[in-house]
Amino acid sequence: MDPQIFSRVDEYFHAQLIESDPVLEAAVRQSETAGLPPIQVSPTQGKMLHIFARMIGAKSILEVGTLGGYSSIWLGRALPSDGKLITLELDPAHAKVATENLKRAGLAERATVILGSALDSLQGLVTGEQGPFDLVFIDADKKSIPAYYEFAIKLTHPRSLIVIDNVVRDGQVIEADTDDPDVQGVRTFLADLKSDPRVTVTAIQTVGSKGYDGFAMALVN
Ligand code: SAH
Ligand code: DHB
Ligand code: MG
Repeated sequence: MDPQIFSRVDEYFHAQLIESDPVLEAAVRQSETAGLPPIQVSPTQGKMLHIFARMIGAKSILEVGTLGGYSSIWLGRALPSDGKLITLELDPAHAKVATENLKRAGLAERATVILGSALDSLQGLVTGEQGPFDLVFIDADKKSIPAYYEFAIKLTHPRSLIVIDNVVRDGQVIEADTDDPDVQGVRTFLADLKSDPRVTVTAIQTVGSKGYDGFAMALVN
């Protein structure tokens, strides 16, 4: 099958299902102008994250990997006016663009970008007794997914949802012998997960404007 069809269907769904949105469009444009890599979730995926957050009535959301704040806006908009979003970003240039985009989205009060290595920031959240968060979206470097997942467990409560992006990577996830640390990060995360009593987990493959990839979802027991 022509992979272009996946993009074209995604564009069609976008056109049919998502109203023109100057704030989100500006967020993508500003990210592009600042030279950020165009790896944010797609509009249909962003709206899926938004629906997940609404489904569980999330009042507190933690995101690992901010980029220009595109997924942060989708998630932040699911929050009530007294809700909180914390999003973690290593790259100061990304954090700066995200902070501006979140401000333009009217989310400055609810959203905080924490600059630094996510592992350090997550340890800071644990030490500072922040949380628990109702939803955690893990979308930074993939080699550290196992560590991010363990922090997510520490920072959540029963019925919290943990969503992990990019668990398929064009199917590379099944390459057991790969020396790609990102793929091994996903594989280590998935190992023994079915018998992890702390969560109920699945993973779903996706196609669309971001190619062939997928999400894992863990509901905290
Ligand atoms: N969630 C965003 C996309 C994130 S892309 C969206 O969908 O809109 C991944 C981001 O993780 C990049 O901005 C990258 O700089 C950041 N990142 C990579 N390694 C990191 C680390 N160790 N700690 C924190 N952020 C990291
Ligand atoms: C990459 C990272 C992502 O989070 C993503 O959704 C797609 C691609 C990357 O690092 O290439
Ligand atoms: Mg991603």
